[in-house]
This record gives sequence, structure tokens and C-alpha cells, in this order.
Amino acid sequence: MNQKNTNTIFWEDERVDGADKVTGKAKYTAEHNLPNLAYAVFVTSNIAKGTIKNIDTSKALAMTGVLDVIYYANCPAVPGYNPNAAERPKNVSEWRGHKVLYDNKVRFFGQPIALVVADSFENANAAIRFVKPEYETEAFETNFDKARLNVANLKPPVTYKRGPETVTNVAATVEAEYNIPIEVHNPMELQATIAYWEAEDKLLLYDKTQGPKSTQGLMAKTFGLPDKNVRVIAENVGGAFGSSLRSWSNVPAACIAAKKLNRPVKLVLTRPQMFTLIGYRPQSWQKVNIAANAAGDFLSINHEAISNTSRYEDFREGIVDVSKFLYAAESVNTKYSILPLDLSTPIWMRGPGEATGCFALESAIDELSYKLKMDPIALRIKNFTTINPENKLPFSDNNLKACYEYGMTKIGWKNRPTVPGTLKENGLLIGYGMAVGVFGAGKGTASVRAILSSDGKLVLECAVSDMGPGTSTSMSKIAAEAMQMPITKIKFKLGDSDLPPGPSQGGSGTTSTVGSAVDLACKTLQQKLKDLAIQFAPPFSGATPDTLEVKNEIVSLKTDATKKIEIVALLKLANQDKIDLTINSSGKTPEQLKFTSNSFSAHFVKLAVNPKDGKIKVLQVVTTGDAGKIISPKTAHSQMLGGVVGGLGMALSEKLEIDHTTGQIMNASFGAYHVPLHSQIPNIDAWFVNKPDMNVNDIGAKGIGEIALIGFAGAIANAVYNATGKRVRDLPITPEKLGFKSVKA
Ligand code: MOS
Repeated sequence: MNQKNTNTIFWEDERVDGADKVTGKAKYTAEHNLPNLAYAVFVTSNIAKGTIKNIDTSKALAMTGVLDVIYYANCPAVPGYNPNAAERPKNVSEWRGHKVLYDNKVRFFGQPIALVVADSFENANAAIRFVKPEYETEAFETNFDKARLNVANLKPPVTYKRGPETVTNVAATVEAEYNIPIEVHNPMELQATIAYWEAEDKLLLYDKTQGPKSTQGLMAKTFGLPDKNVRVIAENVGGAFGSSLRSWSNVPAACIAAKKLNRPVKLVLTRPQMFTLIGYRPQSWQKVNIAANAAGDFLSINHEAISNTSRYEDFREGIVDVSKFLYAAESVNTKYSILPLDLSTPIWMRGPGEATGCFALESAIDELSYKLKMDPIALRIKNFTTINPENKLPFSDNNLKACYEYGMTKIGWKNRPTVPGTLKENGLLIGYGMAVGVFGAGKGTASVRAILSSDGKLVLECAVSDMGPGTSTSMSKIAAEAMQMPITKIKFKLGDSDLPPGPSQGGSGTTSTVGSAVDLACKTLQQKLKDLAIQFAPPFSGATPDTLEVKNEIVSLKTDATKKIEIVALLKLANQDKIDLTINSSGKTPEQLKFTSNSFSAHFVKLAVNPKDGKIKVLQVVTTGDAGKIISPKTAHSQMLGGVVGGLGMALSEKLEIDHTTGQIMNASFGAYHVPLHSQIPNIDAWFVNKPDMNVNDIGAKGIGEIALIGFAGAIANAVYNATGKRVRDLPITPEKLGFKSVKA
């Protein structure tokens, strides 16, 4: 590992776990091995809906290495599967979601219906095609566009209303509908579980999860165990984007198989199964109506949305929420319904809800700007608000204007044509576009243990996970700053439910929540060191703690730096081999609750559209974030780059295709589901306001993960319109939708 900066406290240019990750030393769930491990592969349904009459397992069972084929007829009882609450044992909660291997019902195409367990992955995988189900099929519906038209298919809407029914002085109105298809997370790491019953009532899980504590609690309740009898290890997570925010069927299935066979079982989903069994961004339809006066003030915003869920579970997200508070508008109406279809259940996917909602809202504002003949940024500034108009609280901070200023300069906004389709460079139509993203900036509860040992090393522990953003790095940096000691002497341990409880990694909350706890733990540690110095070190006898400082691993008198003692020497003098403390950091304080907190982003795009074939080439991206203080510039920068890549996919290529005659996913592979290629990623300038927001927490930092993506697809759509004069409201934006027949990618 590069050690060049070991003398500095702020180690700007490394990830603390970077070397382990690139050299393969860092282990991911499926890479773990246990003695006597067995391997399991799901058999999945070939129909979308119906009943399984029988499953012939005899051929599969006769194959080399096959140990068992588990399905509804031979599956051991799972306490949490019992639908009758009255009959469930105490401390058991019903398993949410699809009860895998439980009954003979098929609820979606590709549903697991049996689990082949063998002595190797290859033998299990070879046997799955010899498991022969017999079905009785039923009529099903997977077609969102068709089913949403019948109101009877929708669950009752959730509505919001403020301001007057009718508005006056309307100078311009836009009303338009927007469609976003199902998109899939596509993390690099496959969903995987290793289950091992260490005793009849003691379960060890290696599991790909964004929340070791949440998985622990859920599996304890599903199998009727006390939480402490379930240990979940997820030390490294290879991307998730929300797909590992809940436990999917692979977790109970591995536990069931391990129990039945009385040996550890590893279950890894195949890549095609990653498209069907771990959730997705739901398909959505939206209608936005904005009315403005001649000066550009928004008089009213109406935002309506429908998104799909499964037939067996309700999944909702905040699609219309952003319209309630991002801009000043007196009259706001929103309406949101979900539509059950015969598909698996969706889940949060990066920028959940807001990414969908901002595409529609930010496209509509762009449309309105042309009607008003106003610059779209000027229109946004006209409707800027420092008070959240929904809850009437002041924003803890909102630096969108600084984002606009930086983005406009860097992208060359002055070159943007005010009349669309009029600017050409090298024979290509050039367009500029921008859009805004916003996401809540919370602060939840977390416990952190800090162990400062007599060799001067500091270990911090929390059961949070790191799905990739670099949590260990940012937490180590927060500790280094709070302790004023070198980051190289600090180790942050995570990814194990046995560590002090921390949140699931999601909703852009980790840095604020866990970081606040790390900060508090280190400040408490500093107090302890000062107390020890006063008690044991002669130069400080009679001093008060506030006259001392702890810096560079030394305790010294603020007014006389020659009066000092090294931390290591102090612990020796005090005869302590370590200081070991655990602190609990709670949510927002009453003072912090006087504000409403969000992170913001503004994305700027310059792109070219070929007038011959409609091919879009993104030439330049400037992406700006207002997320308070930036703790770790390198990992924060990478978050923004990842958001742009995800946003490019959302805008230009990603779409899960369903064959509505069978209910089958037609493009469940990287060959057919198109994520952006490296060659399609333009030069990206990622910039942060980097102004501490001290109203949200003591470290001044807010989340980045979601705002990196939210709004980006709108910036592309707005730039495409600016280039061509064609407004595309259905993602992804393909040449066909610009009026071109078809082109090769
Ligand atoms: Mo994220 S969708 O909060 O993992």
C-alpha cells in the first residue's frame, strides 16, 4: 500500500481498503469457505402464474453429487412462514415477501420453485434442468401500460393537497406524461448467502447485505431465535444500489437447506436470476402539470404517479414527494397509486422515488421555460425557496445557486441555443441541458465502540456495511480529524452483526448517522485522555480539561506546549492497556429538528445528436453536489462519477423487457440489458459546494449516494430537446423515439 502520506492526518488520496480490494485479499460473501460446504442452485418457474401439480425430482436426485432437491413437498417447517399469527411461536414474525419453497403457487416467471443441493456448484447447476415441474397455469398480467388504464386495478391512491383550488394570472402551463421502464440494479457482486447452523438454535450467515443488523433481526424472527443466536457477516459488498436492503429468498432457502442437510450451504444467484430475484426500480407513469405567471412564478404544481408492485406485496416509494417541497409553489396537488402485477416485488434502487419523480418534474420545468421564453436556470432561481413549503421549516442549508453558477460556467451555458435545434458542431446537433436532484439528509441512531490501545492504535467498530462508497475510509477520516491523529493508526471495523448496532447502508444516511457516532466516540475518547492526564501526569496536576488539548498523539497544555505527554506514555503511566468505550448517538437533536435537511445536486450536460441517425453522444458532464462538508474527496468524487454512469444508463439505454404473452424477462443478461459502456462515458467534472451544514449534525456532512443520480436523466432529456427540438418523455431516449427507424448500437 502507498504509505507516502503517513505523516499527515488527512490522507486525501487513498481508500483505506483499496489495496485489499484490488489485490483480492478482501473477501466477498461467496468467496468464503467452510468445512463440508454444500452448494445450492435455485430451479425457477417457467410460467408466470399458476399451481405446481407435481415436481419430479427423481432424475436430478440420481445425478452425480446431488444431495437433495428441496421443494414445497419436503421443505422443513419454517416458523416465520406460518401465516396464522395465533399459531406462531412467541418471538416469531411472519417472513415478508415470497415464502420460498413453501407452497405450490407460482406468482411470477422465474420464481424459485425448488433448490438443488450438491457437493459442488457445477453438480448442482447441472442438475437443475432435470427437475421436472408440472403446472396448472392461470391467467396473468405483466403489462403495466395496459393494466394501469383500468382504475379498478390500482390500489387506493395517497394524495396531498395544499393551496387554492384554482389559480389566476396564468401565463403558461405545461402538462405532460412521463414513462420510465423497469430498471435493474446490476451490481457486480452476485447475491449470495452461506448458511451454517453451528448448533440447533445458532445460525451463522455470510450474506450479501446492506444491513447486517437488519438481516440478523429478520432471520432471527423468521426462524424463532433470539437475535444474539444469529450472526451475519458482510465484511465487503460489491455494489448493491439498494438491491441488498432487504433479505430475498436466497437467505431463508440457504438456511432451510443447511438445516435439512445438517451442513453449511452456499447459495449464489446466477446472473440471469439477478434480474428477477432481488428487486428493481418499478415501472412508472407520471403526469405533471405546472402553471406559471408571466414572471415565471410557479402558481401550481400537480404531480400524479403510478408505479408497479407485485401481487403479493405492496412496494411504494416517494415518486411525487419532490414536487411538494423543492420549489416555492402555493398550490400543490399530488396523487400516487400502486399497481399490482404478476411480477416479483420491486425495491429501492439508487435515488429511489426521487430519481423517478425528478425526471418528470425537471423535464416539465424545462418545457415550461421554453413556453415562458425564460432561461431554465433563471426559472429555477425564480422559484428557489429557503423554506420548505411542505413542512414550513427552513432548509438546514441549500446551496443550489452555487451549483448553478459553477455548472453554467464549466459547461459553457452561454453557448446554449435558446431556439432548439439551431446549433451545429461538426455536422452534429448540439444541445445543453440541466436538471436538479434532491434527497433527504437524515441522521439516525448508531452505536460505535472505540478502543484506543497502549500501542497508540485506534479501532472503531460498528455493524454498518459498506456496499462500495468507501465507508471505512470516510469513517477513518472523521476519526482522524476528531482525534487529530494519523489515519494510518486507525482501523474502522464493519460488516458484522456482532459489532455495536448500526444502520443499514441506505438512503444516503451512513456518513451522517455513523459519522456522527464516530465523531462523538472520538471526542469522548479525548475527554478520557485529558482526565487521565490530569489524574496521572505531573505537568497537568490541578489543570482543568478545557485547558488541555489532544493532538498529534500528544496531550499538552494549550498555553504551554512544552507541558505535554504522549498518549502511549500516558496510558502506560496510568497503567491502562487500553481505553475502551461505546457511545450511542441518537437521531436529530431538538435544535437540529428545527430544520429540514436535504442534499441537492445540479447536473449539466452537453451532447451531440447525429441528424442522420439520431445517435446521441454525450460530450461533457458537469455534476455538482451540495452535501455539506465533503469528508473524503476521493470516495465522494467516485460516488458522483457512479451516479453519472447510472444516470446515463437510465436516460439512454436501460429497460427490462417483458414478454407479456409469457411473463418472461427477455433481456436478463448483460448482453441484452444495456448498461453504459466505458467508451460512452464522457469527461465528467464532479464538483461539490463543500460547505459544512452544521444544522444537520456536528460533522456538517450530508449524503451523496442518491443525489449523484437523481435528476441526471432529466438533464439528458432536456439537452436532447435543446439539440433537436424533440421532447422525449419516455425513458430510455433512443434514436427511434427521436423519429429514426433503427440504428446499430
Ligand atoms: Mo439505496 S436505494 O438507499 O441502497
